[in-house]
Amino acid sequence: MHFVDLHCHLLPSIDDGSSSIVETVEMLRVAHRRGTRGIVATPHTFQPMFAAFSSMELIGAFSRMMEELNELSRQEQYSFLQEMDVHLGAENFASAEFREALEKRKVLTLNGSRYLLVEFSSFMPFPLIEAAVDQILEHELTPVLAHVERYEFSYQLPESLDDLKRRGCVIQINAEAFDRRRNGEVMEFALSLARRGVLDVIASDGHDVRGRPPVVQGAFETLRRELPEVAVETWMSANPSRILANQSLETPE
Ligand SMILES: [Fe+2]
Repeated sequence: MHFVDLHCHLLPSIDDGSSSIVETVEMLRVAHRRGTRGIVATPHTFQPMFAAFSSMELIGAFSRMMEELNELSRQEQYSFLQEMDVHLGAENFASAEFREALEKRKVLTLNGSRYLLVEFSSFMPFPLIEAAVDQILEHELTPVLAHVERYEFSYQLPESLDDLKRRGCVIQINAEAFDRRRNGEVMEFALSLARRGVLDVIASDGHDVRGRPPVVQGAFETLRRELPEVAVETWMSANPSRILANQSLETPE
């Protein structure tokens, strides 16, 4: 089984992720070494903290990156790149600009599927999150809630996540949430979501090579000691693969 990582800031010189094609290649090397074979470049978009790029500009940057990766992959030391399946998506920040672009259908989904990765500000009140989720659903897109462990509402109103799921929202958690050394409280929360069957996808949200690397393997090792391996594989391989193929998801028993 290989991992498929749906959320990673691989696209160089766009946001706070990779700063160059050299860094992108090294991020891909780390991901490959740790068992990932499918990965999606999800640059921040509509996030006021970063420069605004249109979907067309991101598509252009992605195809330039792919040309360089394909070129490099012919060299012996970069031949691992041939085994990496790299796709384009975006991490859409639910701002007013995002909602406008959504109305015009000018948003980037994950690999052109109906699945749209969306993030909110950490302290956004739940009713506003619910309204944005509904707006995405009205456009016949499926929202994928990025890094569920980051939001205040996730802890204060954990049952609201079941509500989002019932509406059709997909729940993504970052692999680092299962790292007890970083934050025991987040880890307990993450495990409770896994046990309750609230999770759909585990992804790296990788930004660089060392600080926030594109690695999900540690979470896999932790989780398979706690839960049936088939469930963990669903979150880290089967479901992300289904999303990229625009198919419906599985919920492990
Ligand atoms: Fe992210």
